[in-house]
Amino acid sequence: MNIQWYPGHMTKAKRMMQENIKLVDVIIELIDARVPISSRNPDMDNITRNKPRIIVLNKIDLADRSKTEAFIKWYENKGFSVVLVNSKNGKGINQVISKTYELCKDKIERNKKRGLINKPVRAMVAGIPNVGKSTFINKLVGKASAKTGNKPGVTKGKQWIKLKKDIELLDTPGILWPKFEDKQVGINLALIGSIKDDILNIEELALILIEFLKANYSDQLLKRYKLANIEDLEPINVLENIGKNRNLIKSGNEIDLGKAAIILMDEFRNGILGKITLETVGL
Ligand code: G4P
Repeated sequence: MNIQWYPGHMTKAKRMMQENIKLVDVIIELIDARVPISSRNPDMDNITRNKPRIIVLNKIDLADRSKTEAFIKWYENKGFSVVLVNSKNGKGINQVISKTYELCKDKIERNKKRGLINKPVRAMVAGIPNVGKSTFINKLVGKASAKTGNKPGVTKGKQWIKLKKDIELLDTPGILWPKFEDKQVGINLALIGSIKDDILNIEELALILIEFLKANYSDQLLKRYKLANIEDLEPINVLENIGKNRNLIKSGNEIDLGKAAIILMDEFRNGILGKITLETVGL
């Protein structure tokens, strides 16, 4: 499966990121907790120029907790601060605010000593498309402004949102691109729905997912679709059984594999199939 995604925008996006990073003190990098490797840009470390960084493992509600724990350790060993977030319900957002303070403590102190009492520290959110940046920013602004009042301001042509009296957030997130040279990255992002389905073959994706689930989460698959033993079945036969059990029959009494694939993918992406992480630390 050959997946192409926004190639024309990549250079422009990188330039924008580099410009904006000069203006901030801390970067909040969003990663999808279901694919913590594929949903990162490996150039991020260079682009951020050693600025303090908070790794937010977003969509934590959809990810497998035990695999997440391993990724937390992995990132912490690399020296990052990690926060688990569900941007939909706001879980973990307060921790992001306190981590921002923690990472900028020295800067805030230095500013105070210089008499710059009201000089805010500045943060930006960055991540690949669909990782949840807008949802996250909305929740972050909502939480913080509940106490302080949300006052957007214009500085040097950029819009800043006042989060607390001494933290400001750049209102436009930095958009990065995933590492597309790696075919598996494209497949993983397609599986979680970060690449539009109209350019992909949903049936092919469903078969890849079934193969993975058979090897890693077979209980969820069996339970959700009331399947008997699938160990000896090929993915296509599993998909047929899903279609049969859901009564997805086309004219001519054929099983509608297309519909079965759509249902499986939807239920996986929305967490109905259970909490599933596609990647393993270090792989
Ligand atoms: P982006 O700005 O980085 O491109 O991402 P955006 O916020 O638009 O979020 C992409 C999708 O991910 C949205 O779903 C959003 O609701 C969902 N999302 C974001 N954070 C979380 C999270 O922590 N948990 C879960 N389960 N979902 C999250 P959508 O289907 O495109 O839109 P909608 O149907 O939710 O409105």
